[in-house]
Amino acid sequence: GKSARHTRENLSFSEIPHTLDARHHLPKEYSANVLLRWGDPLVASAGSFNPATLTASEQEKRFGYNNDFIGYMPLDDKAGPGEGEHHCRSRNSARGLLCVNHEYTQPHLMFSGYNDKYSATRGVSAEHVAVEQAACGHTVVEIEQTADGWQPVLSSPYNRRISLNTPMHIVGPAAGDRRLQTAADSSGTRVFGTVGNCAGGKTPWGTVLIAEEGFGGAFQGDPDNIADPVESLNHHAFGIAPDNRNWGDHDRRFDIGVEPHEPNRFGWMVEYDPYDPDSTPRKLTSLGRFEHEGFTLVSKPGQPIVAYGGDDDEHQFVYRYVSSDIYKPDDFSHNRDLLIDGTLYAARFDEGGSGRWLPLLFGQGPLTRENGFRNQADVLIDARRAAALLGATPMDRPEDVETNSVNDCTYVMLTKNKKRDSDEIDAANPRARNATGHVLEIVPPGQYGRRDHTSDTFKWNTFLLGGNPNAENPNERGAYGQQLPGAISANGWFANPDNVAFDPRGNMWIATDGCEGFGFHDGLWAMATDGELRAAPKHFFGCPQGAEACGPEFTPDGKTLFVAVQHPADGGGSTFDRPLHRWPDNDPALPPRPAVLAIRRRNGNEIGS
Ligand code: FEO
Ligand code: CA
Ligand code: CA
Ligand code: CA
Repeated sequence: GKSARHTRENLSFSEIPHTLDARHHLPKEYSANVLLRWGDPLVASAGSFNPATLTASEQEKRFGYNNDFIGYMPLDDKAGPGEGEHHCRSRNSARGLLCVNHEYTQPHLMFSGYNDKYSATRGVSAEHVAVEQAACGHTVVEIEQTADGWQPVLSSPYNRRISLNTPMHIVGPAAGDRRLQTAADSSGTRVFGTVGNCAGGKTPWGTVLIAEEGFGGAFQGDPDNIADPVESLNHHAFGIAPDNRNWGDHDRRFDIGVEPHEPNRFGWMVEYDPYDPDSTPRKLTSLGRFEHEGFTLVSKPGQPIVAYGGDDDEHQFVYRYVSSDIYKPDDFSHNRDLLIDGTLYAARFDEGGSGRWLPLLFGQGPLTRENGFRNQADVLIDARRAAALLGATPMDRPEDVETNSVNDCTYVMLTKNKKRDSDEIDAANPRARNATGHVLEIVPPGQYGRRDHTSDTFKWNTFLLGGNPNAENPNERGAYGQQLPGAISANGWFANPDNVAFDPRGNMWIATDGCEGFGFHDGLWAMATDGELRAAPKHFFGCPQGAEACGPEFTPDGKTLFVAVQHPADGGGSTFDRPLHRWPDNDPALPPRPAVLAIRRRNGNEIGS
C-alpha cells in the first residue's frame, strides 16, 4: 500500500551484469528450473522427443515453439474441469494451469537441413507445414510445486494444445460480416486456429486472452492482385507478400489469391476458458483487428471492464476498451460476455501531458461511408485506418500495456521505431529513429490506487527512456530514475521494453527484446513505480544469447516468477547443424529449445522483496 512506498529494500537482490553468452543468468540468491521446453510431452503417452521424426499429430501432444505470454491460473483443490467459477476465486500458488502462447515457428532452428532463414520458409513439404502449424498457438498444462521444484502434471485432464487446427467462434459486432466469410465458412463465424500469438491477458472470470500479432507472415500472395481496393490496402497493411512463407502452397486458405477473406479472420484477441478443456475459444471482434500485442484488464466491482492494448507496428496506436455492462464479481455467467459488447477507443497523447480516448464508432466523426466504412464491422476490421482518421497518435511500436494495481496507473511499453523521421517526433514519441524504446505512464483521473479508467481524458508522462544514459547519440540516450541521480548502476539500463508484469508490491518487471543490438543479453529489469527510486531499474535476469525474454508472470503469492525464453540461439543464420549453442539441454542430439523457467528465491521468500 501507500505507506510501504518503494524503498531500496524492496528490490534487494544482487544485480547481475550485462553479459552475452550461452547461459541464462540470475542473482545468486535465486535459482531456476526448466519447467517446459519445446517438444516436452503434455500427455504421459507421448514418447521421447525427436525433432527429426516429429509429426503434426505428435506435436499436438507436446509443448509448442517460441513460448511468449504466460498466464498462471490457480487451481482450487476442491473443483474439477469445467468448474472455472470456483477455480477463478482461488489464489493457490502451488498448483495451477500454465497458459502459454507459442508465437511462431523457425524451422532453421528447429529442424536439421535448413541452412538459412530463406530456405527455411520456402519449398517445405506439406507434412512440414502441418508440423509448424501444430507447433504454433497455445498450451494449457497443469503444473505443481514439488520437492524438486515446479513440474508439469502429465496425467492432468486440463492439458491441452490450441493450434492452427483448433475450431474457434468469431463473436461480437463484426461476426458474420461478409468480409469474414470464406468458401469454407459462409457464416463468417467459425475459423480454424490462431497464429502470431504474442502476449495476452487474464480475466477475473477465469478466462485467458491470446493476442494475434504478426499473422500477416502466415499468408502468401500479392495484395496488388486483389480486386477490392479496401481489401488490397488491408492486406498490404499487415505485410502479406508473395515471398512470405509458403504455407499457402499446402494449406490453400493461407493463399490470398485463393481465399482473400481468410486474413480478416486473424488479427483479433482470442478468449478461452483454460478450466474447461472442451471449451471453444472465441475471437473477440469488439477489441478490433490489428497486430495485437495483448490486452490487459482493469476490473472494478460495479464498474465497466476496462481493457488496454497495443498494436505492435511502427506508427500504430494504443487502444482501450470499455464494456457496455458492469463487472459483477459474483455473477460468473454475466461477466463472460463483458468483452463482447463495448466501445473501442484509440489514444491521442497531447502536448503538455494530457490525453484523450477517441471512440471507434461507425457514423461518428470521419468513420462514415464517405471514408469507405459500411458499418461497425468495417471500423473494427480496419481499426488501424479508423484510428488514424480519428487523429490518434502514431506510436513507437506499442507492446504490452498494463495497469499497476497498487498505484492504478497504466504503463505503455514502446519498444522502438526506426522509421520515425525527425519531422515526425511529438511529445509522446520524442526521438527520431528511436532505437531503444521508452515507457509512458498513463494517469487516469482520481486518487492514488483508485482511478477512473473509464474517463475519456487522462494525464500522461514519460516514465523512462530506454538506452544507455551515457550514449553520445541523444536519440539513444536513456533517462531513468530522475528523482535520484545515480540511482542505477552500469547494468541498470536496458533497451527495447516489450512485456511487463507487476509484483504484488507494485514493482514493475520489464522484459526486453533487442538488447543484443547494444552488446548484451535481453532479460528482465525490475524497478519501483513510485518513491525516490521510481523508474530506477535493477537487472534481474539475463537470457542465453539469441533469445528474448517473454512472459514474466508471478504466482499470486509473488514467490515464483515464470519467464519464457524465446528463440534461444537465434541470429547469425544459426542452424540445427551449426547453432550458437544448444540451451537449455546442451545435448548435441537436440537443437536449442525455447523454454519456460520457474524462478524461486533460495530462501522461499517473495521475489524481489
Ligand atoms: Fe511479438 Fe510485439 O512482440
Ligand atoms: Ca517475440
Ligand atoms: Ca512481445
Ligand atoms: Ca517484440
